[in-house]
Amino acid sequence: MGKAKVFVTRRLPEATLNRLAAHCELEIWDDFMPPDYATITEKIRDLDGLLSLLTDRVDAELMDAAPNLRVISNLAVGYDNIDVDAATERRIPVGHTPDVLTETTADFAFALLMAVARRIPEAERYILAGKWRTWHPTVLSGQDIFGATLGIIGFGRIGQAVARRATGFNMTILVNTEENRDKIAEIGAVEASLEQVLRESDFVSLHVPLTEVTQHMISEAELALMKSTAILINTARGSIVDGAALYKALDRGDILAAGLDVTDPEPIPREHPLLTLENCLVVPHIASASVATRTKMADMAADNLIAGLSGVPLPNCVNPEVYT
Ligand code: DGY
Repeated sequence: MGKAKVFVTRRLPEATLNRLAAHCELEIWDDFMPPDYATITEKIRDLDGLLSLLTDRVDAELMDAAPNLRVISNLAVGYDNIDVDAATERRIPVGHTPDVLTETTADFAFALLMAVARRIPEAERYILAGKWRTWHPTVLSGQDIFGATLGIIGFGRIGQAVARRATGFNMTILVNTEENRDKIAEIGAVEASLEQVLRESDFVSLHVPLTEVTQHMISEAELALMKSTAILINTARGSIVDGAALYKALDRGDILAAGLDVTDPEPIPREHPLLTLENCLVVPHIASASVATRTKMADMAADNLIAGLSGVPLPNCVNPEVYT
């Protein structure tokens, strides 16, 4: 039997590709922009494996177009781009890249929180616009972080890592979560209802996965509960927040500011109303983007792919029930 055939939807670090090439025949998508859905469908027709990114929609129809498909390895911890139920029905294991990006993403969530609270991007724009003429007692005053209340929604690995950072800033930490409730007190945080988190927090940071339940979980009613001095941080998935409601809340001053690593849609169009606001910092989905972490993510995705092609359980599988 010849080598298994695999489609890799973007160029990964050379070392990872070399390792993969020892196990399978690779077709690599070399463009900076992702292949579109029709192209992936066409490419994987006769293939055994797919190494996808979060920009690639992998649904039932696409799986049906590839009768030999034995493994899908997603280079991300999130996998809302993949119809996992459809993969499970077809007994295709789906891999992802948890853990390695936890601390890097938590660092970034905290960086975003601090940048928005202390108005760092605005301060740079102020200088570039030639406005720094003297030291002034009120100009560019922001919000204190030390001693403030941080609300964390979702307490998976990244939510917990953000909480650990917050303890160093002597923050009161309120957590609303369906999972890992036993970890809350361990970290020195307090469990709270969603309403309490929204009402009492100076900062609200989102750490839930995107599901049918969490889609638009922060919408008009939730934003209305927040303090007018509160700051919303989203490093999870864009559509957890209703963007139109967020725009209104920021524009009217119902909440003070927001820091968004993720948007809906992605990329956010240049003419999007959120980009016109001084009090909204938007960055292009880079929370896990450290050189070391992205390299490890690529390696983990390769490990999952190789395992799937070799018929052994994926080291990080989101649907292990395919093995029972
Ligand atoms: C993920 O892995 O799901 C992040 O959003 C990108 O690193």
